[in-house]
Amino acid sequence: MRVPLLFLNIVLVAARRQVTYIGDQVLRISASSQKQLNLVKSLEQLEHLKLDFWKEPVRSSLPIDLRVPAKHVSTIKKFLRSNDIVYSVMIKNLQSLVDEERTSSLISELRQNGTYSFNYRSFHPLKEIYRWIKDLAAENPQLVRRMRIGKSSQGRAIHVLKFSTGHGRPAIWIDGGIHGREWIAPAVAIWMAKKITTDYGNDPSITSLLNKADIFMVIMANPDGYVYSQTKDRMWRKTMSKRPGTHCFGVDPNRNFDANFGGNGSSRVPCSETYRGPHVHSEPEVKAIVNFIKKHSNFIAFITLHSYSQRLMYPYGYTQDTPENLEELDMLAHEATEALASLYGTRYSYGRIIQLINQNSGNSIDWSYNQGIKYSYVFELRDEGQYGFMLPRSQIVPTAEETWLAIKKIMEYACNHLP
Ligand SMILES: *[C@@H]1O[C@H](CO)[C@@H](O)[C@H](O)[C@H]1NC(C)=O
Ligand SMILES: *[C@@H]1O[C@H](CO)[C@@H](O)[C@H](O)[C@H]1NC(C)=O
Ligand SMILES: [Zn+2]
Repeated sequence: MRVPLLFLNIVLVAARRQVTYIGDQVLRISASSQKQLNLVKSLEQLEHLKLDFWKEPVRSSLPIDLRVPAKHVSTIKKFLRSNDIVYSVMIKNLQSLVDEERTSSLISELRQNGTYSFNYRSFHPLKEIYRWIKDLAAENPQLVRRMRIGKSSQGRAIHVLKFSTGHGRPAIWIDGGIHGREWIAPAVAIWMAKKITTDYGNDPSITSLLNKADIFMVIMANPDGYVYSQTKDRMWRKTMSKRPGTHCFGVDPNRNFDANFGGNGSSRVPCSETYRGPHVHSEPEVKAIVNFIKKHSNFIAFITLHSYSQRLMYPYGYTQDTPENLEELDMLAHEATEALASLYGTRYSYGRIIQLINQNSGNSIDWSYNQGIKYSYVFELRDEGQYGFMLPRSQIVPTAEETWLAIKKIMEYACNHLP
């Protein structure tokens, strides 16, 4: 009898350590004037409330999504009402979505047949994904190579999948999973990597593309953050690096790149969700990408996958200065979003980061653009906020299918317009 009891205790302790979101709500706030916007912005300063802006206040025409811890829900609602600020409840109890996802989504499976028997309609633990990466390379030795480009703070490998059919070709970069809680991004990358292997030799467009260029894909750019989001805190965004002098850990890797590092729209506060880190490229996950791309120097396109909001954005985030090939970037974004919408009617907005959302500094596409990679884009995948980061698994494959059409447009264009 003793052994099972002990075991039960361990399970309970482990369960208790998990961050829960019982009664937490996500509010969609519509500030209708600059004054209202400033009031909502002032909430950002109240660190003790532990508010989490899923969509930050930018300007009065854009909706704001705010996750409010249960114990402050009524205070925040009262504050909004007393200032005549309109809001609605997008998610009534975040924990119920987290529970639902846990029971339906996190599939750990015994696979008999490599990537063929992988469930593409589900989210997976990191171990499953790493096995899948290994399997994909093993099943397609002529086309796919798995390369280890670095290690995370906690010592996990960072892999890139190289799809290549020749030598000395221009290269296309795609990464997913740089923010832990945005599970849809690595799930989409997995589907796309598999799609490349099934389409090469069958589909003329991808065959022709891979006869001209290589594709380098990082499925999981921030493995530590993903694991932490799956095991401890579903809303974890940052890396997991620790530093002396603060109990907060992690850096926002998408504020850690050498692109106006430390400027507006990145925090110097270690506890902040957008903490930029102590110095440029302090995060080994960022350093791995930077070193790899610099070493190769033949990249013509850089695509990074995030969620959510349904936006396709190009540089810059840190400055109002327009990129040199603005018209081209804009035209291609238009074509890509049209292609995306053609499948299920999913509408994306597109534009420069600073114009569409906010000024931010140290993001990856500003860096890659300044490295001379002219076609640098960030996707913010589904949805528009109904589920936000809690996008149900039933949307993984449709999201991947439509996104693939847009990415193919960008890749083909880049291949046909070599520098
Ligand atoms: C694995 O899946 C592939 C593709 O469906 C199939 O051709 C192969 O026979 C399968 N192998 C086994 C051992 O089931
Ligand atoms: C930073 O933001 C402030 C306040 O919005 C603005 O006045 C300033 O011009 C910005 N600095 C740069 C370099 O863009
Ligand atoms: Zn992100």
